[in-house]
Amino acid sequence: MAAAQRVAELTRGGSGRFNIGLAGGSTPEAMYRMIAEMDDVGWDRIDFWLSDERWVPWTDERSNGAMASRALLQEREVSFHRPPFDGASTPEASAAHYADTLRSIFGPAQPDVVLLGLGADGHTASLFPGSPALNETERIYVANTIPETGERRLTASYPLLWSARHLIVLATGISKAEAVKESFAERTPAGRIAEGGARIEWHLDHESASLL
Ligand code: 6PG
Repeated sequence: MAAAQRVAELTRGGSGRFNIGLAGGSTPEAMYRMIAEMDDVGWDRIDFWLSDERWVPWTDERSNGAMASRALLQEREVSFHRPPFDGASTPEASAAHYADTLRSIFGPAQPDVVLLGLGADGHTASLFPGSPALNETERIYVANTIPETGERRLTASYPLLWSARHLIVLATGISKAEAVKESFAERTPAGRIAEGGARIEWHLDHESASLL
């Protein structure tokens, strides 16, 4: 609820368009459902996009976009931008197309808010330990591969995350405590989000913060 209220509060600042990158996985779903119940969110002036996505059809149960549609956006008429799957031949082509979409949303400005989760291995978005995307220095959105499984992903890169105004990391449960500690020591991919100019907020519960 604290994270939901903070995200809603951030959407109310300013008067023009506002953009927010949505995290995937299971942690944010409960927060999205709380935000979905709030009327004082600037729904009609927000451009929603995805901090990362799996390389699966939009309707696939593994899709982060499908989860965000179901939990947060529901029946609302909002601007929700998703990386193409059917219209793209490869993850690389989809990521390149999506980067152009995001640049048109950001314009000369920058990402306003990017929501992120944290994996037990210290990954965030789809920036996995030992994966190629960790080394991206130019493109804002890239295809990536999970080393252990070969699974294809699409993810915001560090250049995009470092350029954001706010990064909000949400992590709960004892299974994330070690990754939180290691991230605060900047020894994980999630820890490297601190290398840019973004204001970073970690929203943790007692269990995930228990080793700090
Ligand atoms: C994804 C997410 C990923 C997620 C972490 C935590 O595509 O799965 O973007 O970075 O945030 O893996 O996942 P849980 O919230 O399910 O623990």
